[in-house]
Amino acid sequence: MSADSSTDSSISTWHPVARSAGLRPGANIAAGFAQGQEIALWRSADGTVQAWENRCPHRSVRLTLGRVVENRLACAYHGWQYAAGSGQCMRIPAHPDMTPPAVCAKTFSAIEAAGMLWVNLADAAPPSAPALDDAVPPGWTFCRTLSVRADAAGVRDALASRGFAPDASSPALRGALGQVDTAALVLDAQPRLAFIHLWTAAALGSEAMKALHIAARVLRGEIEASQPSA
Ligand code: FES
Repeated sequence: MSADSSTDSSISTWHPVARSAGLRPGANIAAGFAQGQEIALWRSADGTVQAWENRCPHRSVRLTLGRVVENRLACAYHGWQYAAGSGQCMRIPAHPDMTPPAVCAKTFSAIEAAGMLWVNLADAAPPSAPALDDAVPPGWTFCRTLSVRADAAGVRDALASRGFAPDASSPALRGALGQVDTAALVLDAQPRLAFIHLWTAAALGSEAMKALHIAARVLRGEIEASQPSA
């Protein structure tokens, strides 16, 4: 399923924060970033991905330090437990008979598509998620995530100058690295920090994969060297 032009603007509000396979159910709470927002990523009991501000609403401790208890995320400090989906505080272990206060962890909309976790930072949940299943060509495989000390816009410009072109139906840029067909998903993580998720055709041999890795490292070096000093 491809996104049509009417969804292009909404696609740009979904950020490819992490690889879907990297987030296991249960104990795994991962940190992600998008546009400077630090995010706690975890899965509820049914496997649904949760993307929350990485800050406990009680005393601001990072939720990534906590743990998953059944269908709730428990903060590491005082153990307040917040429900999957709503983020509503459900239990305060020190006061088990008390009705929890009406506080919520800040939640963001999140979806899984094309092997990635996509997060939308808008306060109001979008009415529907865009079609992102074809963000990466079907059957392609994940190669690596490249961190680059540069703004995302600069990374996109650098990719464009090397022949990477946008795909009208997806947020990916398509081009070649090390003469290997590559799809690049650029994440605006923080000011002066971007991530490039690189995907490529599944049947690559080891030499082609090695060439792609080398080209990716060269690309990063060239982009970072071109950045104005802070
Ligand atoms: S800081 Fe999280 S429960 Fe107190």
